[in-house]
Amino acid sequence: MVLIEWSEELELGIPEIDEQHKKLVEMLNEFYTELEEGHKREAIEHFLQNLEDYLNYHLDYEEKFMEEKGFPETENHKKVHQMFKKLYAEEKKRYMDGDPKALRELVAFTFSWLFSHIMKTDRKYAEYINNTKS
Ligand SMILES: [Fe+2]
Repeated sequence: MVLIEWSEELELGIPEIDEQHKKLVEMLNEFYTELEEGHKREAIEHFLQNLEDYLNYHLDYEEKFMEEKGFPETENHKKVHQMFKKLYAEEKKRYMDGDPKALRELVAFTFSWLFSHIMKTDRKYAEYINNTKS
């Protein structure tokens, strides 16, 4: 079952980064599929673990990429990533401490990250890079 479809709106035109963003869509779909199948505990554990590995890898990758390309707003973009990681860590701690609402917020947050961060914030470096490509 596919719940979130990859769309052109999410496409930045930078193949390796688009691949990584597709992975995030896949992860969310996997999570919902496992939930639907009734494996709630496994679904949550997988999702949290996958999301953490993903964030460590992907956000770092993007930051190095922007630096290499000399994107002038790299520092601001890094701050947005840091904010996301901080919120993620807080929500996760709340969930681990037994607050079931934290998980829903975490998932909702990942969704809004996916759609608004990729379409607005990531698009800025993509436009810069695509316009300065020789
Ligand atoms: Fe980003």
